[in-house]
Amino acid sequence: MKIAIAGKGGVGKTTISGTLCRIFGAKGDEVLAIDGDPNPNLSIVLGVDKSDKGPPNLSTDIIERVEIGDGKWKFQVKIPFQEVLETYGQKATDNVTLLMIGKPEKAGTGCMCGSHTVVRELVNSALSSEHGRIMVLDTEASLEHMKRGTSKYVDKIYTVVEPYYRSLEAASRFAEMAEQLGIGKVEAIANKVRTKEDEMAIREYCAKINLPIAVFVPFDEEVMAADLIGKSVMDYNPKAKVVKALEKLRDSILAE
Ligand SMILES: Nc1ncnc2c1ncn2[C@@H]1O[C@H](COP(=O)(O)OP(=O)(O)OP(=O)(O)O)[C@@H](O)[C@H]1O
Ligand SMILES: [Mg+2]
Repeated sequence: MKIAIAGKGGVGKTTISGTLCRIFGAKGDEVLAIDGDPNPNLSIVLGVDKSDKGPPNLSTDIIERVEIGDGKWKFQVKIPFQEVLETYGQKATDNVTLLMIGKPEKAGTGCMCGSHTVVRELVNSALSSEHGRIMVLDTEASLEHMKRGTSKYVDKIYTVVEPYYRSLEAASRFAEMAEQLGIGKVEAIANKVRTKEDEMAIREYCAKINLPIAVFVPFDEEVMAADLIGKSVMDYNPKAKVVKALEKLRDSILAE
């Protein structure tokens, strides 16, 4: 099962991606987490020590352009997936292996098209060789990864929404683009929900745009408290409200 987590800036994509990975992993699944944000911070939620430099970031060296006839060509990963994992994978807590998109070496060193292609093709090749593994792709805030088709080969995309209009409006754009990419399943994750009114506002908007809501995740002070000291909420309090809500999401994903 391959999942992408999208949404507007700061809605909670990384918190949800990382926590969900760890919930799957802690319950016995082998999990592949991909940090698709060029400004990466998924490793902290995955419990990787801040001083751990880890393996190299994914680079365009792992893909090649191949002719497919009629003057057409495509990109593909040129080394076996297992080798990708061994060379670039970082072992994190709870059975999770992390791969990170290459971040720009320094400012002004060009665009990220190559990195997006690497992630897209990795997700694609993970299809056949990583059967049985749960893969979660944490995306960057902009629509860039949708425009570049980085999430094209996932089975499902969750667009995270907060109870405020601009976040909901952004969700409808993510959902529209996911449809254009041919991703069959698009659902919302309602995050940072504090009140019944918050819940109603999200329900009404999502009903209007026909976007099913997978789960309501409450606003949780413990996530903030954990973040303040650079910890994952899973390590801060594995029984936190956020963790409980995401455990329900994990169960519903497996039940599909
Ligand atoms: N359910 C929640 N309750 C309280 N705070 C939360 C919750 N979910 C996320 N947060 C907080 O919201 C902030 C943004 O979270 P996070 O970094 O996961 O968002 P993001 O969508 O990945 O951001 P970016 O767009 O920058 O990648 C963090 O301070 C995090 O602790
Ligand atoms: Mg993030």
